[in-house]
Amino acid sequence: MPAPSPSDPRVRIRDVAERTLLVETTTAADASAVYERLRTRWGSVAPIDLEPGVPAWLVLGHAEAVGVLRDDRTFIKDPSIWRGHAENLLGPQSALHLVLPRAPKPTLADADGVKHTRMRPPVDDALSQVDEARVGAITRRLCGMLIDRFEDRGRADLVAEYAAVVPFLVLSELDGLEPDQAQRLQEITRAIFESGASARERTAELLEIVTGHIAHSRRLGTQDIAGVLAVHDNFESDLERAQTLTAITLAANESLLAWVAQTLALVLSDPRFSHRVSGGRLHIDDALDEVLWRSTTNPNLMPRFATHEVVIGDKLIERGEAVIVGVHAANHDPLVQSDDPWDTVGNRAYLSFGAGPHRCPAPRLGRVIARIAVAELLQRLQVTLVGDPDQVEWATSPWMRFPARLPVTFPSPSEQPPHGTWPADPDDADDGYAVGPPGY
Ligand code: HEM
Repeated sequence: MPAPSPSDPRVRIRDVAERTLLVETTTAADASAVYERLRTRWGSVAPIDLEPGVPAWLVLGHAEAVGVLRDDRTFIKDPSIWRGHAENLLGPQSALHLVLPRAPKPTLADADGVKHTRMRPPVDDALSQVDEARVGAITRRLCGMLIDRFEDRGRADLVAEYAAVVPFLVLSELDGLEPDQAQRLQEITRAIFESGASARERTAELLEIVTGHIAHSRRLGTQDIAGVLAVHDNFESDLERAQTLTAITLAANESLLAWVAQTLALVLSDPRFSHRVSGGRLHIDDALDEVLWRSTTNPNLMPRFATHEVVIGDKLIERGEAVIVGVHAANHDPLVQSDDPWDTVGNRAYLSFGAGPHRCPAPRLGRVIARIAVAELLQRLQVTLVGDPDQVEWATSPWMRFPARLPVTFPSPSEQPPHGTWPADPDDADDGYAVGPPGY
């Protein structure tokens, strides 16, 4: 990307007095309207606030977003060069301490250049050896176990009791963790999210458990995700292996939570899907794709930081400034998409799994888990959404978009029609899990 001349009259972030808060894009009833307002006012790159008074650039154009994601020499994950640094801009309770620490986080998602090039192959190797049929069986069994817990009640919150729990359980099993370890890790993860700035001790405990699990997997020679990481030569230590295993699990957890919850909300509220089981026109995969097009799960990617001055359009991005890729906005760029919802059917050209060196390593695996989680629920229960689907309250994360709650009712088992084509697993009875939803 071109460097500006010193007399360049382009827009600088510090000259913009009023900036939209990023979280408006994820909590608005109509997120597209917020992005379109920004696009109309600012073009392909808009000045926004991460929190009041904490500025960043939001990339709205599809071509510009791909350019930022692919150019990992200009836009890096290391926050050390962030203009102003966290201690000057963020209050002690700021949630941004978790995503914008003063030093780079040690995971591959936050690594740049040579380090990322070293840490990514083990992740690709570990995830590519996962057998999809096994993932399907595990997901089906764990979904069945969760549905068993609330089936007799006639009502449930499909976010807290289902979408937020399924991904962690499935990934934990693929990681080779025992149910009690998975439960402890989920408790710690929740505590880390809730404790904000003072999460260091809990992170140490989490890494101790996972490091022990890595060593255990190596001793046993397991073939699960932990087993592959445990013997991979690209790592310099078991701590790196543990950090990578944790990063994989958390990355999957958040995105899948949002994908499953949003897809359930869509299928349960949209008449195009409601007759699916009796031969409707659209399949669950179409609903999964439509969510990624219309209201994607990761609408704003974690910040990158400019290593030198860059011009995009008429905006001057200075060295160290934070740049957020707006995936939702890029997916809706009029240059790549029309307003016709049928255009999305079977079309997977969205940016929802990212692009460039940090693109998601598990789009297929994620789809298998999400598809089965949605299908299993619909096969087992005749659920009806409680309340107006247009009045959904969205969770308040600026990075993820998913309903805060999805209250449903359904007839008790004796009133249900027979189960669909996927039978419950006979091993469900004594599941050994006592895991609750994570604290997002
Ligand atoms: C089994 C499920 C999943 C696993 C194991 C997984 C794992 C990961 C990991 C480890 C990364 C970091 C890669 C790197 O930095 O090199 C990543 C990135 C990403 N994942 Fe996934 N993921 C899963 C599902 C999903 C789903 C369902 C979505 C969205 C629908 C998603 C969207 C993304 C995006 C957008 C990025 C790029 C982030 C960025 O560039 O800043 N992932 N994923």
